[in-house]
Amino acid sequence: MTDEQLIALAREAALKAYAPYSRFHVGCAIASVDGDVVTGANMENACYRLGVCAEQSALSAAQHAFGLHKVARIAVVGGTGEVACTPCGGCRQAILEAAQLSGQDVEILCGSGDGSSVERHSISELIPFGFGPANLEPPA
Ligand code: THU
Repeated sequence: MTDEQLIALAREAALKAYAPYSRFHVGCAIASVDGDVVTGANMENACYRLGVCAEQSALSAAQHAFGLHKVARIAVVGGTGEVACTPCGGCRQAILEAAQLSGQDVEILCGSGDGSSVERHSISELIPFGFGPANLEPPA
């Protein structure tokens, strides 16, 4: 699966967003180390704070499909404009969890809604000095 194909799947997933309040539709596609792919979209709620981001939705799907320890690459696409959709702080933390489990510096492709731009980042770049499962391991 190429980066372009993964981004296309994230863009397709955004069409399934349930975002009547923000009207900001986000889609996410996650590729495993074995090449399996799952997708997710944001799902808002009338109780606003209960909304779920696309990345969290896709990570849940990844957990069930192949396990967080196999997460390799993530594409996120959102909005309608030319600004690339980067994961929010909470999603960065959730991606860090998978990254530390997989032992990989997970790559994140961030696409704009209008398709004009894609930014490539690694999770270590997006959340430097992060706190994850590795921090909780008991000292040897
Ligand atoms: N959103 C995501 O799904 N992922 C992000 O990383 C950024 C924000 C969603 C949450 C909310 O439904 C809408 O976009 C506006 O914030």
